[in-house]
Amino acid sequence: MGRLVVVSNRVGPLKDTGRAGGLAVALVDALTQTGGIWFGWSGDISEEGTFGQLKTQKTRKIQMIQLDLTQADYDDFYAGYANRTLWPILHYRLDLAVFDRRYEQGYRHVNDRFATRLRPQLKDDDVIWVHDYHFLTFAANLRAMDVNNPIAFFLHIPFPAPEVLAALPNAGSIVRAMLAYDLIGFQTERDADNFRRFVVEELGGNDLGEGRLDVDGRQVVARAYPIGIDAEAFSKFPMAPDARKNISRLERLLGGRQQIIGVDRIDYSKGLPERFRAFERLLEDYPENRGRVALMQVAPPSRAELDAYIDIRRELDELIGHINGRFADLDWTPIRFMTRSFTRRVLAGIYRASRVGLVTPLRDGMNLVAKEYIAAQRAEDPGVLVLSRFAGAAEGMKEAVIVNPHSAEEVAAGLQTAITMPLEERRDRWQIMFDRLCREDAIAWSRSIMEDVAKVRR
Ligand code: UDP
Ligand code: G6P
Repeated sequence: MGRLVVVSNRVGPLKDTGRAGGLAVALVDALTQTGGIWFGWSGDISEEGTFGQLKTQKTRKIQMIQLDLTQADYDDFYAGYANRTLWPILHYRLDLAVFDRRYEQGYRHVNDRFATRLRPQLKDDDVIWVHDYHFLTFAANLRAMDVNNPIAFFLHIPFPAPEVLAALPNAGSIVRAMLAYDLIGFQTERDADNFRRFVVEELGGNDLGEGRLDVDGRQVVARAYPIGIDAEAFSKFPMAPDARKNISRLERLLGGRQQIIGVDRIDYSKGLPERFRAFERLLEDYPENRGRVALMQVAPPSRAELDAYIDIRRELDELIGHINGRFADLDWTPIRFMTRSFTRRVLAGIYRASRVGLVTPLRDGMNLVAKEYIAAQRAEDPGVLVLSRFAGAAEGMKEAVIVNPHSAEEVAAGLQTAITMPLEERRDRWQIMFDRLCREDAIAWSRSIMEDVAKVRR
């Protein structure tokens, strides 16, 4: 195989700096093994934007090539179409989606500009792998520039039912552009099925079985490739000096009480208000937990200039104030809410010190935190994962306590089950999930996509 060329909006960081986001984490795990080029946005805004200098940097086997955006491109492409239009729709939130023709134009323009800047870097035997909702139309732009290399795409977030996606103006045109990819990967069978259904129902394509689609004589493959983590490596993180120091600090603070841990970017898809109401319900319905169980929530801010994110932040501050005010005692605070990030090593230590991992998104492509929580546990005395049925991770983690995040009553009951679960049952459930995480890891994930795209192109 030739070089691997990865394209995504966020590039890096390669080090464990604590910047939150599943895509970057997964790609570092995958690219560290194979090596290759990683191409995308620099995170900077400048007057020249995509017309400016390429910023290159080589670390170990990975060469990063990055471009700036102009303020207008940032507003229309990133803050606009990607995060005010596509993100809510793909997470089933039509009520939050903003439609503006300027956003779509900005999005198409930036896809085309990034493709134009990547074009001269490409060699004939490169395999190109594009990621996430920022670059749905990227392959169509490359193909228009006579690029005949295999091009794979992976969507890290959900692909909604066609009934929902149809609300997006020009949805047909966007999905048709996606057919320029040779292979399109999704997090779950449900997402892949939704995509195939859209192609058949809205674009008149034929489903040939085994994920193969034919549209107007062009064939593409659309399948589920659930993303994995480097579970072996992560399971060793709690032994890192940084993690151990923090585990001791936490254990001292907890003084024998039990901790529930949540880790999420502040995003309306993560079901945070619902989670805190469910914790309040736990304290109401099972009062023996008052003073004995605490919820720690790590919540790094994300896309904080967008209205929907400002609103959710305000709602959370109020709700937590209310619950803590209602239940706190001299030596116990029910919810500790930290709007900062930690490195994954420190998080691993926090996971290990927590009896319950609470992951309750209303919709999530996969949710790596669920997998990391399991990877960080001690085999002798593992904690319990309480997991939303609407996280992609639920498809492959049936041994978790699966809950409906919309029901405070059900989540509270799930938490009580987790808190009181006997050791033997905790071990049984954990072992099955941990073994699976080690088998279906980040390397297996990228390898299977790379193998399949090579076959499809041939
Ligand atoms: N993360 C981190 N520091 C933090 C919070 C999160 O490094 O303070 C990492 C976390 O370990 C995980 C990723 O960010 O690898 C979040 O991925 P996930 O799939 O759970 O959610 P996303 O943010 O992609 O929606
Ligand atoms: C999710 C998306 C990624 C994105 C990340 C952080 O994981 O799937 O594509 O990079 O959130 O969001 P941001 O807007 O800061 O890149």
